[in-house]
Amino acid sequence: MSNINNIAVLTSGGDSPGMNAGIRAVIRTGIYHGKNMFGIRRGYDGMVQGDITPMDAKSVANIIQRGGTILKTARSDEFRTVEGRKQAYENLKKHNIDALVVIGGDGTFTGASKFIEEFDMPIIGMPGTIDNDLNGTDFTIGYDTAINTVVEAVDKIRDTAESHDRLFVVEVMGRDSGLIALRSGISTGAEAVLIPELEVDYDAIMKRLDKTRKNKSSRIIIVAEGDKEGGMVVAEKIQANFPAYDVRLSILGHIQRGGSPTCMDRVLASRLGVAAVEGLLEGRKAEMAGLICGNVQFTPFNKAIKHIDKVNENLTRIVEILSL
Ligand code: F6P
Repeated sequence: MSNINNIAVLTSGGDSPGMNAGIRAVIRTGIYHGKNMFGIRRGYDGMVQGDITPMDAKSVANIIQRGGTILKTARSDEFRTVEGRKQAYENLKKHNIDALVVIGGDGTFTGASKFIEEFDMPIIGMPGTIDNDLNGTDFTIGYDTAINTVVEAVDKIRDTAESHDRLFVVEVMGRDSGLIALRSGISTGAEAVLIPELEVDYDAIMKRLDKTRKNKSSRIIIVAEGDKEGGMVVAEKIQANFPAYDVRLSILGHIQRGGSPTCMDRVLASRLGVAAVEGLLEGRKAEMAGLICGNVQFTPFNKAIKHIDKVNENLTRIVEILSL
């Protein structure tokens, strides 16, 4: 029998499509198990400010299909201080909150770990980030929607590239991770994908572009935001090497973070929301609920946030082989 009665949920860090489906799952699972449920607005910042409100089943109706997060999100400087965290703890106590579910990425779990260390509060995390850069889950909530947004945009760019015989460099999100770039590159038939995890061999890329010149009238190079040089410099380098090419740069930006979540993200968020609450009730803490090979698994925060290299080099080979 769990002695947890009052559970709160928050979203923190960059928003990602499917966070709402996750909030809905957490609130309704808690209610299903007879618990009192709360929402904390604007992430840890709201915890420090005491922006905490009770939530019922109706408060999460009609949100599963909505992008963003109804609880809003923020990055909190105050929560990084001892005083800020103490204030946050006192605010939780005012509502008798005895456990938390936090939805976010590495910064969110780092904050949660600190809080657990200081106040021994049971916290379970759910992976909410478009970057997919967490250990302990094959996919993070929002990644599938983001890559589908990229694919839709790049398909459109391909139409214009093909019509004008142009080469487009498309910069996609991923501050430290090339996983958005890699998957969207394969699925749009990109000629090359540049990601921060792998050394860029410009000579090889230029040779490849040269070799395939007669087969193609359009070319797409996908560059992850975290690439050492970034899309602008890559476009300049290619233009300098091939003055005859008509090179254009397109930076997709924050459209990648918005929009209605895909079926995959909704199901993932729903499964992990149920798992997070039931994990808390079973006595778990300081772990992230994730999905590995179709099964829910829990990974300690310190392992989940280690920046792992989920990049499968075979995928970059696939880009190369298929770019002939
Ligand atoms: O972590 C998600 C992400 O979208 C990264 O890919 C990107 O680098 C970053 O957030 C941008 O953050 P902000 O919206 O705060 O500029």
